[in-house]
Amino acid sequence: MSRLRIGVLGGGQLGRMMALAGYPLDLLFSFYESTPDCPAAALGKVFGDAGNSMASLDAFIDSADVFTYEFENIPAAWVERIAARKPVHPGVKSLATSQNRLNEKKLFAHLDIPSARFSEINSEADLRAATQKLGLPLVIKTVTMGYDGKGQFLLKEEAQISAAWAQLGAQAPLIAEEFVRFQRELSIIAVRARDGSSVCYPLTENTHHKGILSHSIAPAPDIDAATQRCAERYVTSILQELDHVGAFTVELFDTHEGLRVNETAPRVHNSGHWSIEGAHCSQFENHVRAVAGLPLGSTACEKPTAMINIIGRHPSTAVVLQQTDAHLHLYGKSEREGRKLGHITLTANSYDELMARIRHIADALPNPMALPRD
Ligand SMILES: Nc1ncnc2c1ncn2[C@@H]1O[C@H](COP(=O)(O)OP(=O)(O)O)[C@@H](O)[C@H]1O
Ligand SMILES: [Mg+2]
Repeated sequence: MSRLRIGVLGGGQLGRMMALAGYPLDLLFSFYESTPDCPAAALGKVFGDAGNSMASLDAFIDSADVFTYEFENIPAAWVERIAARKPVHPGVKSLATSQNRLNEKKLFAHLDIPSARFSEINSEADLRAATQKLGLPLVIKTVTMGYDGKGQFLLKEEAQISAAWAQLGAQAPLIAEEFVRFQRELSIIAVRARDGSSVCYPLTENTHHKGILSHSIAPAPDIDAATQRCAERYVTSILQELDHVGAFTVELFDTHEGLRVNETAPRVHNSGHWSIEGAHCSQFENHVRAVAGLPLGSTACEKPTAMINIIGRHPSTAVVLQQTDAHLHLYGKSEREGRKLGHITLTANSYDELMARIRHIADALPNPMALPRD
């Protein structure tokens, strides 16, 4: 039997970890990425050139049997071009929804999923009207291309309206969201197979530092069964609506009034990296299984697990590995401020022990961490 070849749009660390999960299943990988020495390059042939020419895309389409992507900020036209010739999972509908914050918010409303109230912003006057309608503070975001907190303005008072418009107006349409007063940030990752069956990972607690994910804890501490069920209901209703195949992530705010959905990603997610060692079947393996048309694996997590991002500068490999049960994942990237270079997974028998381990590993990291609450 010939081996199934999976083509991945994007060649970053997510593509690299998909391939690392897929090779034991005898699947083969190729990537579409403009930089040839990308993190995934060690795992398969990289197509693509500086201008992302259609010729290079067509050569990439020839290289595989079924396609997926690791990043949603790509032209829908690429996915449509692939879909005209070969299967792509997830499909164009998932991509078009998740890459546009207004489409996302409209989908939440359609499915009765609680989220921040919002207004579409196309002018400074719209911004002024939004402060009247939604109150202050407001979070102003670009509708497309935002990530790691980029393309956002926290509008605290009316005097800042002109400054907010000056900073982001050129990228309109924008979205203004009411500021959600949350206790903590959570995410849930689900994976849906081609036959419509789906699995959900436990809710994960995420802590950010300067807009970038600093660390995640899974399962999130102090989550009751009803809250987990509620998050699963939200994510599976979105998956069904989009007829999504593959991994899908929902970021949520945990508030005194319950869960509020923030945003989605139609892919594996940084807040699910813990699952490589922490769950029976990782988000990467389950995503690859879904794309390949294989049955999904168990998402069960036996022990409290933490994922700590390595950002900007590398720690000493030997020092990290001295810690019992520390797993180091490096992405093959060069050092640059704010860049995700790798992550560390820790498991422990209790949350107290896990917190102690996180604090210990933080000392080995050159990047400052937002340390966990006591
Ligand atoms: N409406 C909001 N209310 C309060 N905080 C918000 C709101 N929207 C975003 N944030 C904060 O900003 C962070 C980044 O925003 P997000 O919408 O997740 O964009 P990104 O695509 O950059 O991750 C969130 O993780 C959260 O901490
Ligand atoms: Mg986010």
